Amino acid sequence: MKTANNLLSGLGTTIFTVMSALAVEHQAINLGQGYPDTEGPRDVLEHAAAALLTHSNQYPPLTGLLELRQAVSAINRRFYGLEIDPLTEVVVTSGGTEALAASLIALLNPGDEVIRLLGATPRIVRLNPPDWGLPEPALRAAFSPRTKLVLLNNPMNPTGKLFSSRELTLIAELMLQHDAYAICDEVYEHLVFDNLRHIPLMTLPNMRDRTIRIGSAGKTFSLTGWKIGYATAPAALATLIAKAHQNLTFTSPPNLQRAVAYGLAKDDAYFADFAQTLARKRDRLRSGLTNAGLPCLPSSGSYFVIADISGLEFAGDDQAFCRHITETAKVTAIPLSAFYDQPNAPTNLVRFAFCKQDHVLDEAVARLSRLRS
Ligand SMILES: Cc1ncc(COP(=O)(O)O)c(C=O)c1O
Repeated sequence: MKTANNLLSGLGTTIFTVMSALAVEHQAINLGQGYPDTEGPRDVLEHAAAALLTHSNQYPPLTGLLELRQAVSAINRRFYGLEIDPLTEVVVTSGGTEALAASLIALLNPGDEVIRLLGATPRIVRLNPPDWGLPEPALRAAFSPRTKLVLLNNPMNPTGKLFSSRELTLIAELMLQHDAYAICDEVYEHLVFDNLRHIPLMTLPNMRDRTIRIGSAGKTFSLTGWKIGYATAPAALATLIAKAHQNLTFTSPPNLQRAVAYGLAKDDAYFADFAQTLARKRDRLRSGLTNAGLPCLPSSGSYFVIADISGLEFAGDDQAFCRHITETAKVTAIPLSAFYDQPNAPTNLVRFAFCKQDHVLDEAVARLSRLRS
């Protein structure tokens, strides 16, 4: 038989799948998985349930229901002062994941280079612990005449880093100098703590025309299974994203879109309470881990906190440690080295998700504490 796609055949199973399977095998508390273990806001769910019974369940428009595009436009204005045309500058997708894929398809030609901040091919700028600061010389050196775009995840998974205004200004300056675009994965935009403010790169001078900004209702409403995302882009790029979307999934469930439109119009208190609740969970897990001998790096956003395993004097790397705690303490985390494509990744750091119920976090900490004693 002819061989299937060589590229995919050659890919291994992801660490998330491996660790989750191990967690099931050992009946471990899985703090490797980055999704909440409670349901999202009741009123948003009820809105979806009612909409399913009262509205059409047939294909919605290619770029999404107008009411959701209008809601995306309105929340961009409310939070960031961005003026987005709901008719031409928003494309609703099946999650941030599809928005990302469609945006890359929309912009890239063969031979183009992509600068990715932490992670994969081909021009990687590595950020380093403990503060994950943007190294200016490395960023400058990564740009070339072939640079088509910068791929930026802000707030960042797995580090919980929020890019500063100074760092974003540098990225913007280099983009202008090299006539590059940016695709900004900002799915954690509303999961930002300690009264810090998420700054979309798109809000910086001259960035509006060369930036695609991606959001996700899954993260904003703790409904990760809904897979409703939205790309916001200048009309010329949004048209191309829509063409890619047409060939990827074409549309996303209309009545989930309706409920997300309702959710995005929730008052500021919802967004503030949501971030505070998550920040309390971060603090709860962080102090528990610290007491258990696992001090944590700062996390300003996302679902994640990174712990340093060096102090435990465990004889092995982060991968072995995650396997060990799953098997013996029955708590699962993700080794940070799995996020790197380059050699010399740190091997003393592991990622824990704190978007879980308090009693689950407490039990995980209790189990890890017993491990040390
Ligand atoms: C940085 C980042 N981008 C995108 C996604 C995917 O978002 P969605 O579920 O809306 O496709 C995730 C999910 O974990 C993520 O961490």
